[in-house]
Amino acid sequence: MKPPIDGGTVLITGASSGIGLAIAKQLAGRAKALVLVARRRERLEALADELRAAHGGLRVFVHACDLSDRSALDPLVDEVERETGGVDILVNNAGFGDMGVFDLTHWPKNESMLNVNIFALTYLTHRLARPMVARGRGGILNVGSTYGLSFTPGYATYIGTKHFVAGFSESLRADLAGTGVAVTQLCPGPVKPSFSRCPGISRPLTCRGSSRSRPSAARGTRSAVSNAGARASSPAGSSAS
Ligand SMILES: NC(=O)c1ccc[n+]([C@@H]2O[C@H](COP(=O)([O-])OP(=O)(O)OC[C@H]3O[C@@H](n4cnc5c(N)ncnc54)[C@H](OP(=O)(O)O)[C@@H]3O)[C@@H](O)[C@H]2O)c1
Repeated sequence: MKPPIDGGTVLITGASSGIGLAIAKQLAGRAKALVLVARRRERLEALADELRAAHGGLRVFVHACDLSDRSALDPLVDEVERETGGVDILVNNAGFGDMGVFDLTHWPKNESMLNVNIFALTYLTHRLARPMVARGRGGILNVGSTYGLSFTPGYATYIGTKHFVAGFSESLRADLAGTGVAVTQLCPGPVKPSFSRCPGISRPLTCRGSSRSRPSAARGTRSAVSNAGARASSPAGSSAS
């Protein structure tokens, strides 16, 4: 079953950089309309201008929205449905990760991660899947991670969120079978620059042990992981995605 990308309206979360931006550029030549969602409005506006210039007739809508704010989701969907008439493809791409031994991490960052990586993804799907099923056509693409299929120390919450994406996507695919709505999960491996930018990591972490194993010397001791995580959590540090 092919999702209705051609001539369709595609909503992409996390379109201001990285994978989401690349997906927007890929689909711009096929879609009728793109809806770009992220917090950094200026980046979205610049991308929208570029895509409109490159693809005559393409409609591009920009929504600056903090997806960690649960109260922002209904107004977002209401406005998008009003201006577009309905979303044919939902790309749940927005997400981020953070490094650190779990008990030493800051709770607010964990909560924000859960809200963006799990709650927003699930809620947007719940709002938009029903009209897709009613129309008998649609597509949902959830961006998970190879970390959603594996385990490694130092990323417990992030990996937990991506395991949710894996389980949710596979079950949703079964729920929507035969409705005309395609459900796909994308599981990228490490993509530059996010993981390679993370302080304390010289190369992407890979899963070599079980969830019971301690952080190995190759990946750093508990203190090395927590120190790197503390730097990654600082305003000057960067987060892993
Ligand atoms: N990079 C990798 O190695 C890798 C590997 C596997 C999976 N992934 C997954 O791929 C997806 C995209 O990551 P990326 O590598 O492209 O990272 P990225 O370049 O940092 O992009 C993340 C996107 O999510 C948006 N976002 C983050 N928090 C948000 C919030 N609170 N509200 C709204 N938007 C938010 C960001 O936009 P604003 O900052 O403008 O809000 C940005 O557009 C994520 O789900 C990530 O987990 C990445």
